[in-house]
Amino acid sequence: MAHPRPTTPEQRVLVALDTPDVDRAVTLSRELVGSVGGVKLGLEFFNANGPQGVAQVTRGTLEETPHGQPVPQQPLFLDLKFHDIPNTVAGAVRSVMPLTPFILNVHAGGGPAMMKAALDAVNFAAEPLGTVRPVLIAVTVLTSMDDGDLDAVGQRGPAGDQAVRLAELTQKCGLDGVVCSPHEIARIREACGPDFRLIVPGIRPAGSATGDQKRVMTPRQAVEAGADWIVIGRPITAAQDPAAAAKAIADELNG
Ligand code: C5P
Repeated sequence: MAHPRPTTPEQRVLVALDTPDVDRAVTLSRELVGSVGGVKLGLEFFNANGPQGVAQVTRGTLEETPHGQPVPQQPLFLDLKFHDIPNTVAGAVRSVMPLTPFILNVHAGGGPAMMKAALDAVNFAAEPLGTVRPVLIAVTVLTSMDDGDLDAVGQRGPAGDQAVRLAELTQKCGLDGVVCSPHEIARIREACGPDFRLIVPGIRPAGSATGDQKRVMTPRQAVEAGADWIVIGRPITAAQDPAAAAKAIADELNG
């Protein structure tokens, strides 16, 4: 069974720690225990610091269970977007399972055999660890790609249609959901139904700076549209008091 959906407003918020700096990530992660549903560590952090760096971010908030298995108090969304042949992706999934991520992702563009191999690998690896398996999601179309970019790589547009096609394929392969932009939530929800999990970046609390994000929604709009988890980086990490910024977001979701 996959890790359950969020049940509180705090659990819905995943904070993106986009930094190569371990100390900063550890500090933010500790400050935010309890006020967010988890931390997202991606390619920038992982390639700078490796699995040991990831473990450090979670280890500072770890306890030992009676079975000696570490349990992160700050859940981990490991955003490594695997994309390779099925055998290699399965191996990559097995290699990161000891970090006990609760969300993991692959590229839907890797195809059905690759997605199924990743799913088999999480199921197989979670069992001996005695954990519920991570939520396995796919990236559909990178939001940095427009219709012209899709055409350049031989993919059929428009980008919104391709995202729905890949979400449907992801669901057919048995994966749990996709990462999508706020503006794709409604269409993917309609196509894939209420059980499919949607993880949504491009979120800005009302009144905060949009930075390089162009088509944003507020946390509340995204959740009302059907997002399960929302991914928020700078509005929390660049705040003077990150925990207070996270709490304000949870309050907005509550209110
Ligand atoms: O700081 P900000 O809230 O913009 O961070 C958003 C996070 O979500 C970043 O880690 C970014 O890479 C990620 N993301 C995104 N848009 C996508 C996919 C991922 O902003 N389409």
